[in-house]
Amino acid sequence: MIKSITPHGGKLINRLALGAEREALLTISKFLPAVAVDDRVLSDIEMIATGGLSPLEGFMGREDFLSVCNHMHLTTGEPWTIPVVLGVSREQADQIRLGSDIRLDGPDGTAHAILHVTDKYDHDVLLHAAKVYRTEETAHPGVAAVHQVGEVLIGGPIRVLTLPRHDDFTPYRLTPAQSRKLFIDRGWRRVVGFQTRNPIHRAHEYIIKCAMEITDGLFLHPLMGATKGDDIPGDVRMKCYEVLVEGYFPQDRVVIGINPAAMRYAGPREAIFHAIIRKNYGCTHFIVGRDHAGVGNYYGTYDAQLIFDEFEAHELDIEPMFFEHSFWCKPCGQMASAKTCPHSGDDHVFLSGTKVRELLSGGELPPAEFSRPEVARILIEAYRGS
Ligand code: ADX
Ligand code: MG
Repeated sequence: MIKSITPHGGKLINRLALGAEREALLTISKFLPAVAVDDRVLSDIEMIATGGLSPLEGFMGREDFLSVCNHMHLTTGEPWTIPVVLGVSREQADQIRLGSDIRLDGPDGTAHAILHVTDKYDHDVLLHAAKVYRTEETAHPGVAAVHQVGEVLIGGPIRVLTLPRHDDFTPYRLTPAQSRKLFIDRGWRRVVGFQTRNPIHRAHEYIIKCAMEITDGLFLHPLMGATKGDDIPGDVRMKCYEVLVEGYFPQDRVVIGINPAAMRYAGPREAIFHAIIRKNYGCTHFIVGRDHAGVGNYYGTYDAQLIFDEFEAHELDIEPMFFEHSFWCKPCGQMASAKTCPHSGDDHVFLSGTKVRELLSGGELPPAEFSRPEVARILIEAYRGS
């Protein structure tokens, strides 16, 4: 009998109300004061509801916020590196009483959740930025987003009435319970998770396949929550993933799912967060390559790997798989990294994201050593259309 890996904190959280309980809560919710939440908070609500953020049952109170910022652990002891918080304006906060319930409404007015208010505290934006993002610069997209969160944070458990509606990628909208079941059905004991917010290029494919050589299957888990404006849109990326998997991967060794979370660009801290989320989805292994979840030059190339040393292996209980910066080597005639290739940089094909965007906007296909032609064609069509 195959058993799934234990979720973070011991059990898979489920905060989704169903049936009669949901009906009753819906009725009650009509009379509650409402707070309007944006898409980022909505993606947190979805992740909390389905257990992707286990053991969180709601938005963090002050002690957890401080403990996560300062010590990278929840007050209950589990590793945790990114605050999951709900912010409101000071005027709104004045209307919210401790011990009361509030309704969380999405941008379209849908009542998504009821939050039981157990804490209300000032949002220490500078601490949040400096500890989690290692910078206070608002040019950092994650720090910019932290500034948008709101002056006062409201903590408390949530019951979710209605998950955010998604009309896109429906076959891939797997919850942690569903992905766990799929892995068991396929007989996979060792499952490697791959996070990406980009089209999959040859370097990604190489590290993924290295990992697949020593695991039973791949959980390709692209992030589809909010990303920064110049990242490639989700629908274009999804087409790239589909043609790549169709053309270059054994179908029965890959499950594609969607990570509904918003991208934080918190580099090392987000690598830990990403690993914990994938454990909740049932992965036993997680890929961390060069500058994982990084942006600009804020983090060192391997900082997101080094941060794993700050935790005991048993606390995280998902095995990180570290990969060096990979590239195509002409004399080797294959993908490689400094660990496997003796040749010099002149022999290596390495293109930056910026360089690729330049090629694409000039109507030029990136070379086959960088990107599979099927993927390159989808990208170039998207550029022509935009
Ligand atoms: S992100 O979430 O980490 O920002 P991205 O798509 O850029 O997504 O990278 C996905 C994963 O591939 C990360 O683990 C990253 O470290 C790794 N990666 C990306 N490019 C390379 C490369 N050339 N060599 C090794 N690892 C890489
Ligand atoms: Mg990257």
